[in-house]
Amino acid sequence: MGIWTKLFGASQETKQEEEVIMEKLNIGIILGSTREGRLSPQVGQWVKELADQRGDANYTIIDIADYRLPLLGESGGDASGAAAWSEAVAKQDGFVFIVQEYNHSITGALKNALDYLRVEWNNKAAGIVSYGSVGGARAAEHLRGILGELLVADVRVHPALSLFTDFENGAELKAAPVQAESVNQMLDQVIPWSTALKTIR
Ligand SMILES: Cc1cc2nc3c(=O)[nH]c(=O)nc-3n(C[C@H](O)[C@H](O)[C@H](O)COP(=O)(O)O)c2cc1C
Repeated sequence: MGIWTKLFGASQETKQEEEVIMEKLNIGIILGSTREGRLSPQVGQWVKELADQRGDANYTIIDIADYRLPLLGESGGDASGAAAWSEAVAKQDGFVFIVQEYNHSITGALKNALDYLRVEWNNKAAGIVSYGSVGGARAAEHLRGILGELLVADVRVHPALSLFTDFENGAELKAAPVQAESVNQMLDQVIPWSTALKTIR
């Protein structure tokens, strides 16, 4: 409560603003890969289960494959999923990007999906969970540069899963316990930043 509210009581407007801030946040867990046989649904589900135990936000998996976005601006492409994609992202207060490393960067599908929108991303927070032979670290760092341009504040803690030690046979997620702790530490940063940024949208 601000000093003016304490001294003079809350105005109707202030009360409404406070209610908006106190509402549960919506956090979208975005799956960055679309290929057949991809690992991202497993990783997204694991993050969602950990996140749901916290009870501090509405966590939703957002699968970019569902929107079947053609390359941005491609002539003859069926961009009928673009409006739903815009709506799905606009609803969120923050994000967890599930990022896989493709040739030292993010997937073309994720870059394309990011490029489709602008204001829907702006002034929101995000965490990154990545995987690859070296934890997907290079892809995650590329993503940070892109998020800066989109006015998405990405937090420091970054769970990075190894294809060799956090997956059985490179196929089944068996994350080390320390990785689950890291997901919680990442969310401990995403939630307050998402709350704070809500006040300036
Ligand atoms: C086109 C392609 C390029 C890849 N390049 C890299 C790479 O540069 N570094 C790396 O660690 N893993 C690389 N990989 C391995 C992927 O990180 C791994 O297959 C991962 O499971 C891909 O995510 P997905 O299963 O969700 O599609 C590559 C995989 C593909 C398909």
